[in-house]
Parts: sequence; C-alpha cells; structure tokens
Amino acid sequence: MNEYTICVMPGDGIGPEIMVQGLKALKVIEERNDVTFNLREGAFGATAWFETGKSFPDETVQLCDQADAILKGTIGVSHEASKQIPVDEQPERGGLLPMRKRYDTFANFRPVYLSPGLRHFSPLKPEIIGDGIDIMIIRELVGGIYFGSKEVGTNEQGLRYAREVLEYDERLIKRTVVSAFDAAMKRSRKLHNIHKSNVLKSSILWTDIIEETAPDYPGVEVRHMLVDAAATALCLNPGQFDVMVMENMFGDILSDQAGGILGSLGLMPSACLGPEKAYYEPSHGSAPDIAGKNIANPYSMIGSVAMMLDMSFNMREEAKNLWRAMESVFAAGYSTPDLSRPGTDIVLVSTEEFGDRVVAALEQG
Ligand code: IPM
Ligand code: MG
Repeated sequence: MNEYTICVMPGDGIGPEIMVQGLKALKVIEERNDVTFNLREGAFGATAWFETGKSFPDETVQLCDQADAILKGTIGVSHEASKQIPVDEQPERGGLLPMRKRYDTFANFRPVYLSPGLRHFSPLKPEIIGDGIDIMIIRELVGGIYFGSKEVGTNEQGLRYAREVLEYDERLIKRTVVSAFDAAMKRSRKLHNIHKSNVLKSSILWTDIIEETAPDYPGVEVRHMLVDAAATALCLNPGQFDVMVMENMFGDILSDQAGGILGSLGLMPSACLGPEKAYYEPSHGSAPDIAGKNIANPYSMIGSVAMMLDMSFNMREEAKNLWRAMESVFAAGYSTPDLSRPGTDIVLVSTEEFGDRVVAALEQG
C-alpha cells in the first residue's frame, strides 16, 4: 500500500469550488487503488493574508514541507481588494513566488491541449486547428527577471526609475533544458527552443546550453524560434509545435497566449517540479468575478490532479483515465457557462455537475 500526504491549498476566488471537484476525482482513484492520500488543508493566498497577515502562513509552510506533493487552487483578489494588502505581501509576491523558490520548482509543465469536444470553443478557424492542438510548454520557473534583484528609486536627473535584473547561470538553464529533452523523448521528439538571441545575452547562453545538450538526445529534432515569432506562430500554425522550452517570463506570456488559442485559460492545468517536491496548479487566476457562482469549469484543477497522479505518484494509467473522463464529458456535449459560446448546442452544467459527470465517467471507464 502506498501512502502519500498532499497539502491542499484551495486559495482564493474560484479556487475552493474547483478544488472540491479535483478532490472528488482523487477520491475515486484512491478507492479503487492500493493507495491512501492523506489530505492536509492549508491556507494560502489573499484569503490567508486577511485571516493571518501572511499569504503563505507558517502553518501552511510546515504542511507543505511535510507533504509529498502540493495541490494548489487559484490565488488573487479583485484589484480593489488587493490594494488593502501591502505590495510585497500580495499573494503573488508574498505567497506564490516564495513557494516556488522554497521548493525550487524550476520545471513548469503547461499542457496546451484542445480536446476534440471543445474545438468549437477555440477562437481559431478549423483549418488552422487542423489535426488538433497538443503542445507541452515547459517554462523555467524560479529564475530570470522575476527572481532577479530589484531596485526602485530616483535617479540623478530626479526621475523615478525601476531596475530589475534578468540573470541565469548555466546550471539553472541546464536542468530545465534536460527536463524538456526528456519530455520530448516521451512525446514526438520535437523540441522548440524559444529565445530572443538577437537581443538578449541570456538567450544566447540558453541556446548554447540547448545545443550542448542536444547530442545526448540524438533522436530529438531541435528547432530554434524567436519568442516574438513564436507568438505569431502559435496563432497561425500551432500544429507545428510539440514541446516548447523557454525562460520564465517568456513562458509566463506564451502560456497565457496558448490558453487564448484554446479559448480559455480555464483549460490550462500545470505541474511545477522541483528536485524534491512538486506542486500542481491551474495556470490561471482566481476569477473573482465568477467566484462562488458554481459556473467555473474545473478542468484546469482536475487536470492538475491528473498531472500529480502521473508525475508525483507514478500512477500513469489513472492519470490517463482522468484525462479521458474529462474529455468524454466535453465530447458528450456538456460544459460550464464560462467555457461555452453562444449559438452552440452545448448543454450548460454547473461546476459541481461537471465534476459529478467526470466522476461518473471515471467510474464507468
Ligand atoms: C502564472 C502566474 C504567475 C506568474 C503570477 C500569479 C505571479 O501568472 O503562474 O503564470 O507570473 O508566474
Ligand atoms: Mg501567468
């Protein structure tokens, strides 16, 4: 019998309601396998700040330290509400980035997959979607400009300025690049290096490391593409991409764009892997405008559970079953109001009913 401890952090906005759906699916998997999941709930995000004065409270840090994996919902509150929180303590700067740093979760896997049942939902024309969209964006997550030194002040001319440093050393790049080559080996052996070598020295180093690593993976075809060109290519010909690897800020931006070509960030789960610990989260924000209305699609949360089963607990088959269950619900014509377009004959169901349908499909499948 395997036993795992999971720190569950529902977070803010739609986080708690989509988390419930993810946990329902996890329960089914626990019941039919020789495995026990010990769930420990921790406060995290703006809600935690309002309750305890910290976005990543000490008790939650301890729970995460002791857990085998971390399952995180969404964080963030409305622009107005976040003004009540000092800038450096806001959930992104005060909670999420410190958590990424603490567990050194450098390899961020963001699958960009358009389920056949959701083709109508993508803003791209059918001829551009072609055979479908199935990309794995791998984003370096603990380096670059998001983590470099920062300075604000007034310069000699009396002008306010801000300065932030983009720095990578070869070790930081290498480990992410190796994760990307490994991922390419498991998929279609095609790897796009996304860079900005025509301007940034850090991209030249990044590309050098890619080229130095490539001989270790003779089966992988490597292509290099400038990040701005990649933004266009994602819209015009997404089918050319399989695994894409890039530094932190490029990955932040392009992965959101990738959500756009699917039709919503609500279709973006993710895995953030470190040397010892991994955490799993939707790639999107907490959607405060629809929070508590039972209309948010739980796909990104349930997908994050599937990634956890696969990548932390080596339960590959059950992970696949869970993806398939979600797909079958879309394919049967159901979706939630946030993931639907007027004029289509989709049957609208609530967050909860969508979760129930996934569970039913999982039990039958
Ligand atoms: C993401 C988010 C975060 C990031 C924010 C919330 C700090 O946009 O995970 O993509 O920029 O990394
Ligand atoms: Mg982002």
